[in-house]
Amino acid sequence: MSLSSRRQFVAGALGLVAMRDLPAAAENHELSLAECAAKKGLLYGCAVSSDRLANDKPFAALVADQAAILAPEWELKRDPVQSVEGQWNFSGADGLAEFARQHRQKMRGHTLVWYYGVPPWIEQRLRDARSENLLTDMITVSCERFKGRMHSWDVLNEIVEPQQGHPDGIRIKSPWYQAFGDSYFATAFEAARAADPDCLLFYGDYNVEMASREHELRRTAVLKLIEKLKKQNAPIDAFGVQGHLRAFRDRFDEEVYARFLRDVQGFGLKLMVTEFDVADRGGPADIAKRDAEVASLTRRFMDVSLDNAAMLGVITWGLSDKYSWLSVYPDYKWPAGQLSRGLPYDGGLQPKPMRAAIADAFLARK
Ligand code: GLA
Repeated sequence: MSLSSRRQFVAGALGLVAMRDLPAAAENHELSLAECAAKKGLLYGCAVSSDRLANDKPFAALVADQAAILAPEWELKRDPVQSVEGQWNFSGADGLAEFARQHRQKMRGHTLVWYYGVPPWIEQRLRDARSENLLTDMITVSCERFKGRMHSWDVLNEIVEPQQGHPDGIRIKSPWYQAFGDSYFATAFEAARAADPDCLLFYGDYNVEMASREHELRRTAVLKLIEKLKKQNAPIDAFGVQGHLRAFRDRFDEEVYARFLRDVQGFGLKLMVTEFDVADRGGPADIAKRDAEVASLTRRFMDVSLDNAAMLGVITWGLSDKYSWLSVYPDYKWPAGQLSRGLPYDGGLQPKPMRAAIADAFLARK
């Protein structure tokens, strides 16, 4: 199917109004977000789960149309993959990989080592034996299984937490840290490289984007960890800026964020925004006003992100407000069940000002 007929199909499937009736940036709605990014040699994609793709056809059509790369929202974490000792469950991730293959999309692996979502049996074994295989088996098995099919893997996820008292800001309350101390970071990267030599290997972290002291401490800790990994010759290729922004809680400062990206780039790493969304809790009740402020922050954040030559692309953590952790997570969800509005498309799969902001930022990139 040609791109334009594919878009007509999507519009029909979604019950969308004709493209010419859409508000704002008409030209940009004719191009998918993936196409806007591709014009500048960049990637746009989103996180999804395979059951949504299987059970919600209009949503799946939108994902097929807009995204050039998919990340599993949940299905490649330890919890689903290793919930039972001695068994591997890749059914969800396989479903996603098949969808990506059918629609010629790339895929990211997310995530191999994370303090959260570790099955209880692994935590117990780590306390009993501290065997390094508990760390590396998942890395080796997962990377080998998807070898040649992954654009990138998040090897380490959310490793710093300066408030926990470690001198370099490393997260101490992690079963991995409790078992191996500071020594497991390089081991994880080496195991991933050995299993899939051609895939980009990432460390990703959150709350590194805004101007606050908390974010500044986290940026310092991230840079220290990257410096340490480089000194150890760990095969790290890129840093993932998660990009979970809070529009009405934190102040954004272009210079501060740009400097951080330059500092990471200075270590020879590529960059990618890997989990972008904007929590809108605390914003105006008027939806048009709230959407405008979310879009404005989106544009400022995107412009600085894309201005860095090491940036590979942007992944949003979901595509439509219909399915977003922002409407579930206690700190971010609105009372009385109203949906958060932190993603490019609303709960009815209609494009929002945030979508136009992302498209415009891609197209404006120099
Ligand atoms: C973190 C994780 C993601 C996802 C998001 C939102 O950033 O890295 O896998 O769980 O939180 O829930």
